[in-house]
Amino acid sequence: MKSIVVLGSTGSIGVSTLDLARRFPDEFRVRGLVAGRNLKLLAAQIKEFAPQWVSVKEQEGVPLLRKTLGDQKTEILWGEHGATVVATANAVDVVVAAIVGGAGLVPTLAAVRAGKEVALANKEALVMAGEIFVREAKKKGSRLLPVDSEHSAIFQCLQGNRLEEVDRLILTASGGPFLHVSLRALDHVTVQQALRHPNWKMGPKITVDSATMMNKGLEVVEARWLFDMLPSQVEVVIHPQSIVHSMVRYQDGSIIAQMGIPDMRIPIAYALSYPHRLKVNCRRLELTRLGELTFSPVEKRRFPALNLAYQALAAGGTMPAVLNAANEVAVAAFLEKRIGFRKIHRVIERTMEAHATRRPGEVQEILEVDRWARDKALALIERA
Ligand SMILES: NC(=O)c1ccc[n+]([C@@H]2O[C@H](COP(=O)([O-])OP(=O)(O)OC[C@H]3O[C@@H](n4cnc5c(N)ncnc54)[C@H](OP(=O)(O)O)[C@@H]3O)[C@@H](O)[C@H]2O)c1
Repeated sequence: MKSIVVLGSTGSIGVSTLDLARRFPDEFRVRGLVAGRNLKLLAAQIKEFAPQWVSVKEQEGVPLLRKTLGDQKTEILWGEHGATVVATANAVDVVVAAIVGGAGLVPTLAAVRAGKEVALANKEALVMAGEIFVREAKKKGSRLLPVDSEHSAIFQCLQGNRLEEVDRLILTASGGPFLHVSLRALDHVTVQQALRHPNWKMGPKITVDSATMMNKGLEVVEARWLFDMLPSQVEVVIHPQSIVHSMVRYQDGSIIAQMGIPDMRIPIAYALSYPHRLKVNCRRLELTRLGELTFSPVEKRRFPALNLAYQALAAGGTMPAVLNAANEVAVAAFLEKRIGFRKIHRVIERTMEAHATRRPGEVQEILEVDRWARDKALALIERA
């Protein structure tokens, strides 16, 4: 039996992870939960899974949660420190990193430094500090197992093969809700439209990232670090059906693909049970009912955010952290209806232009750059 901690337990990935823990009580024991502000759902999760430790985002949440829980013996912590204590607790085997955004960086890196196996959904953490993550994981013998469906697919396609024989990784992208909208109409799309992803049900930030295709950009950076590839070896193709989750092309010309229905419980289960496979009770892919599977190149003018991610990767150093921070601020402003959809990539681009990249030695430097980029992006939004 594996003892697990879920960072971001009240989010889309967190809830799917706990669904697996519920269905496989002989495989997983939930020892810790970390959440933000959704105390109602967190309280229900604590009652069901009886974890030893819990952490919430704000201090005010602690007495509120304590009152709801009565005499249940769960230790309740708060803030980044609380999340870090839970992520590094002694008796824990696997940490599911599913806090959204840069807020997940410190506890996730702490889990790596504590030598935990990390099932990584929080791609932003790796985008911000990929080099440090990889270095620390190597040093501490921590394994990073991908949860993102694309990276899980690549990880599966690599099994039994040699990394040196890989020619390129091919990430598939659905194209999101605006794949066929006219470029002019993109200036006027609403938050509601951006939140209507054709294939996946996810949290709001990643759903908007999918609409701009920054999500794929972040995934390109994530793939570079997880699989030690050159940026030129990571390609993106549009595949609107989201059935082929990604592919690996080898030097002999063979392409190996992984397919499945779009259900995050499948890659989460693989990360949790690797190298074994669980009997996941989800809809099966019926090949004869699929119809067409199509692949096409990415239209650069429609999705400029993807190019920004490649630029950040080429610049290296602290630039991907700037890309990520500016994106988080711009997406939040879009969700609050303070800027239009097409302003998102402009804010990121101008924030990146104002930054001279440097090689970060420690995570503290990344956090400083992250704060600078957030302030810069916010100032650009306020001036607009
Ligand atoms: N959803 C997917 O299908 C999917 C697929 C691949 C990768 N991912 C990645 O997985 C991560 C999570 O995505 P999601 O869709 O699950 O997001 P989500 O539904 O918005 O959930 C985010 C989670 O993070 C928690 N959180 C936010 N700020 C926090 C803080 N400062 N301290 C502690 N907890 C905090 C939230 O808590 P509250 O809700 O309680 O405030 C919630 O539990 C993202 O990095 C995303 O890119 C998601």
